[in-house]
Amino acid sequence: MSLAGKTVVVIGGSSGMGLATAKAAKADGAKVVVTGRTQEHLRAAQDELGSSARVVALDAADEAGTRALFEELGRVDHVFVTAATLIFDPGLTSDSAAIRSAIDTRFWGSYYAAKYAAPRMPPDGSITFTTGTATRKPLAGLAVVAASCGAVEALARALAVELAPIRVNTIAPGLIDTPLHERMAGGRERAAKRVAAIAATLPLKRAGQSQDIAEAALFLMKNKFATGITLTVDGGALLQ
Ligand SMILES: NC(=O)c1ccc[n+]([C@@H]2O[C@H](COP(=O)([O-])OP(=O)(O)OC[C@H]3O[C@@H](n4cnc5c(N)ncnc54)[C@H](OP(=O)(O)O)[C@@H]3O)[C@@H](O)[C@H]2O)c1
Repeated sequence: MSLAGKTVVVIGGSSGMGLATAKAAKADGAKVVVTGRTQEHLRAAQDELGSSARVVALDAADEAGTRALFEELGRVDHVFVTAATLIFDPGLTSDSAAIRSAIDTRFWGSYYAAKYAAPRMPPDGSITFTTGTATRKPLAGLAVVAASCGAVEALARALAVELAPIRVNTIAPGLIDTPLHERMAGGRERAAKRVAAIAATLPLKRAGQSQDIAEAALFLMKNKFATGITLTVDGGALLQ
């Protein structure tokens, strides 16, 4: 079963696991549409995906923009949402308006994607959200991020009932070595050190790669019986 002739939209597809998923879907025959905010990432994604891919500037928290994109696309077969703002809030000291953007992007971004994609999907379409293991294994400074991920996992289970037979699932990644870490750590070298240090604590003794998540995302697009699940891909982090 391939994705030949299918349209796959990746909200947050200009970097990391979203970009890897778009590449894998395209290699499997899909027409791909990716979104992101910054032109630099979008240009690099267009170069990697080639001219047949559609690359769109869109903030996931922009409801009107999300509606316009799906109205314009018409039929959509699969949607994968990775976009979210990651904000550290140690001791609940961040500006509340800033921390709200973690929820505006991850929760409302997921909701808007489902709301405007679902009416354009065939019965065997699928929607996949992204959360993280922080929901079940909290890290200091990530309380709101963990809560927003928990809300998205609950949303996915509810939408799996609400939108059936369209399938709705979540991927909860553990440590994945993507450009996100470089941006968070403020440089490639510091990120590499941090990622290596965490990876050494995992049962599999390595960080995940974007491709590990792309494989999980394609599985959830293609498997016709998986719905309402959270697929954890974390190198065993939750076992510890
Ligand atoms: N990497 C990890 O270790 C890890 C672990 C657990 C969970 N996660 C989650 O997995 C998801 C993907 O992370 P990643 O590691 O692949 O990160 P990444 O390499 O930074 O890629 C994130 C993608 O989402 C886009 N994006 C971010 N905010 C957006 C917004 N508000 N609207 C539209 N696009 C947006 C980014 O482009 P622009 O920045 O240009 O908009 C980029 O294309 C995130 O939700 C992250 O929290 C990551």
